[in-house]
Amino acid sequence: MRLSGDVAIIGAGLIGLAVAHELARRGATVRVFERDLPGRAASWAGAGMLAPYTERMNDDALARLCAQSLALYPGFVADIEATSGVGVHLHLDGIVNAAFDDVRMDELRRDAERLRANGVACDVLDRSGAMLAEPSLGRHVFGAIAVEGEGAVDNRRLGRALTAACESAGVAIVRDARDVAVECDARRVLGVRSNWGFAGASHVVVAAGAWSASLPGLPVACEPPLEPIKGQMLALAMPRGFLKRTTWVPGAYLVPRDDGRLLVGATVERAGFDQRVTADGVRSLLDAALDAAPALGDFAVTETWAGLRPGTPDERPILGPTSVDGLILATGHYRNGILLTPVTARLIADFVERGDRAVLEPWLLARFEKEGAATKRMSKP
Ligand code: GLY
Repeated sequence: MRLSGDVAIIGAGLIGLAVAHELARRGATVRVFERDLPGRAASWAGAGMLAPYTERMNDDALARLCAQSLALYPGFVADIEATSGVGVHLHLDGIVNAAFDDVRMDELRRDAERLRANGVACDVLDRSGAMLAEPSLGRHVFGAIAVEGEGAVDNRRLGRALTAACESAGVAIVRDARDVAVECDARRVLGVRSNWGFAGASHVVVAAGAWSASLPGLPVACEPPLEPIKGQMLALAMPRGFLKRTTWVPGAYLVPRDDGRLLVGATVERAGFDQRVTADGVRSLLDAALDAAPALGDFAVTETWAGLRPGTPDERPILGPTSVDGLILATGHYRNGILLTPVTARLIADFVERGDRAVLEPWLLARFEKEGAATKRMSKP
């Protein structure tokens, strides 16, 4: 590796940890600064869905990046599991997207045609097919599509696994870091200052999710235009196997975990940095879940929580160099942070190691400068 100097990463979410691990295995000396514990915030709050097709992106470049990352997932997970000894429960057995009226079913049929035309295997199921695929769906289900190759990972376990893999690769993870600030001169990044003192670095990667824009010391020209987009979720205690696969229903998605929990998510709210779980939020999720699968009504609610997705004006992540040499952004993954973790690690490591920039062009912060300052900030609701 041609790296000179250390790499500092701000934020030990899945993105920061995966970038750290990839750089360390390529020979870099890496420190990660985390104000809390590794693998928390949005990395802990998400459902771990790996669903580039079911998420119905209208942005072809983003859809391709997400599909590329999905293809990397099995190898990425095998590597992290082998290094850490922690299983992350990756399931790529497809996602069922259920319709409860003919209008929605027509939309799903069109989605299925489009996906097949792009080489994605996808079954269209009538009512009995949908009930056979997921018997817990109510008898009023109209039909469904089942998209092959998508699925989910247990993101909380992935956070634990990545933390262990990083540590065994020699990454120093600084937990409970206070007053973390990036330091730059007029031209280049110098390092990271925290309550632990100053740590010089040739590259600093900002991977602090929704908090990346307000990082102390970040030059104004390097501030990513981010808005926190709140997602509330809850978990039900489910008899094992009650729901076999991740299933989308109108107004919610249902993600079964191997430990018997059924995750129900998620709201999409513009509420600043508010992370309260609200009665309205929980009601909307339960209404959607129980309308689709009334049998869930008897299950215990075991957990509720909320997290903040880092939203950007064009819903694309912000990846790569800034106008300050050595200062790199890896944030703004919005609804796809867990999915985009492997490809982000690879792209950022390739840039740090070899200066590969062309491939980052669609994701650079600089795209907002071209559009002008007026569009740089997300408009408020
Ligand atoms: N990717 C699902 C969500 O953000 O809610």
